[in-house]
Amino acid sequence: MKKLCANAPQSQLNPNVQGLTASSTIAIQERCRLMSLEGRDIYKLGLGQSPFPVPESVTEELRKNAFQKAYLPVKGLPELRQAVAQHHQRTFGIECSPENVLIGPGSKELMFLMQLVYNGDILIPAPSWVSYKPQAQIIGRNVVPLTTHAKDEWRLTPEQLEALCKEAPDRPRLLILNYPSNPTGRTYTRTELKALTEVAKKYKIIILSDEIYAKLNYANDHSSIVPLHPDGTIFSGGISKWCGAGGWRLGVFVVPECLRWLLDAMAAVASETFTSTSAPIQYAAIKAFQGGPEIDEYLMHSRKTLKALGDTIVKQLRAADVTVLSPQGGFYIFPDFHVHKKTLRARGITTSAELCERLLEDTGVAILPGSDFGRPPEELTARLAFVDFDGTRVLKTLASLPMDEEIGKEFLQEHCRPVLRAVELICAWLPQKPPGS
Ligand SMILES: Cc1ncc(COP(=O)(O)O)c(C=O)c1O
Repeated sequence: MKKLCANAPQSQLNPNVQGLTASSTIAIQERCRLMSLEGRDIYKLGLGQSPFPVPESVTEELRKNAFQKAYLPVKGLPELRQAVAQHHQRTFGIECSPENVLIGPGSKELMFLMQLVYNGDILIPAPSWVSYKPQAQIIGRNVVPLTTHAKDEWRLTPEQLEALCKEAPDRPRLLILNYPSNPTGRTYTRTELKALTEVAKKYKIIILSDEIYAKLNYANDHSSIVPLHPDGTIFSGGISKWCGAGGWRLGVFVVPECLRWLLDAMAAVASETFTSTSAPIQYAAIKAFQGGPEIDEYLMHSRKTLKALGDTIVKQLRAADVTVLSPQGGFYIFPDFHVHKKTLRARGITTSAELCERLLEDTGVAILPGSDFGRPPEELTARLAFVDFDGTRVLKTLASLPMDEEIGKEFLQEHCRPVLRAVELICAWLPQKPPGS
């Protein structure tokens, strides 16, 4: 008799998931955990998790609602959908009603549903977040990568989009945009977004605008693309990044009236899969989207810290001849080590994956290779998430200082030491410049 537990027969796995392994962001976290258990000093700049706590008023709502035990409506708790619609209108100028809002267990899951119900090409700029492409591949969608360039600050240009679309103008297409960007930390101006929408309108491209880091735009001047192309753009967000609540698993989509058919199809699939998002979390999230002075201050301090820290590590890296753009929002930078290519090759390092592997082994610093974000393997780029610090302590200290107090090097040394130390270790690990060069 054949044993079911014998070597897993690849032929009985859905071909779309054959060879699929855990997402690199999740895998690096586990690797770090195991290395820490072995007693190594590990600097966790791999997984992009907010270092800040969930604001106290939101946590308090969760405590109060722990007793909520009923399944909620598939599309989300009506009061939460209302709060989300009002929030997006107030904050980003998005005209919408609660009927346009869909709540899910993380925006990651909603994106998966979106790609499942939509039948067309999925356009994904590179570099971009690690999960868009595997999601499309699991579902069996045709992925069209749009390679962006460092000279354009890794932004997609309207010319690139036009060049792609004019080849087959009538193909149905969904473009995934994300800004402030994971992995580059860069964002788009309103003018740049407007130019992209002109092309999208011309070719009837649907845009899925992943603006999950919008409220962590350091200048607090995030411009949403939705009001520029309201009928063809879906907003994706949630509470994972700006509200420190990644593990709570709550994401939101705001879908325009014209694309209601997509929202309804997603809700139908949700009703057959996860049913609804955790009830206590939905009740607590109402408070997060209603906002208020406490949350405004929390966000102001978060942005101030991330900007100061981002600018400081960029300076450190540039002093070691690493090419890197300053971040404009979120908690990532995307350094390029190409200047060190020759000397790294002499150490046997020729790809971004080898670079990150050796860096982790030699120094205990975990960052992710550019190849995980859709870049060519031999391009020596990497994503660094500057989140390994105690955000609770940072916020406590900032609350006791005058509002306009600048965050200086001393503050960062005292409060964000692991990140600064990790970047020191990277710089020391890199081949040194010959004296006098
Ligand atoms: C760009 C981007 N989009 C979406 C997500 C998913 O967030 P969540 O599923 O927690 O809402 C992440 C998380 O890392 C992200 O970086």
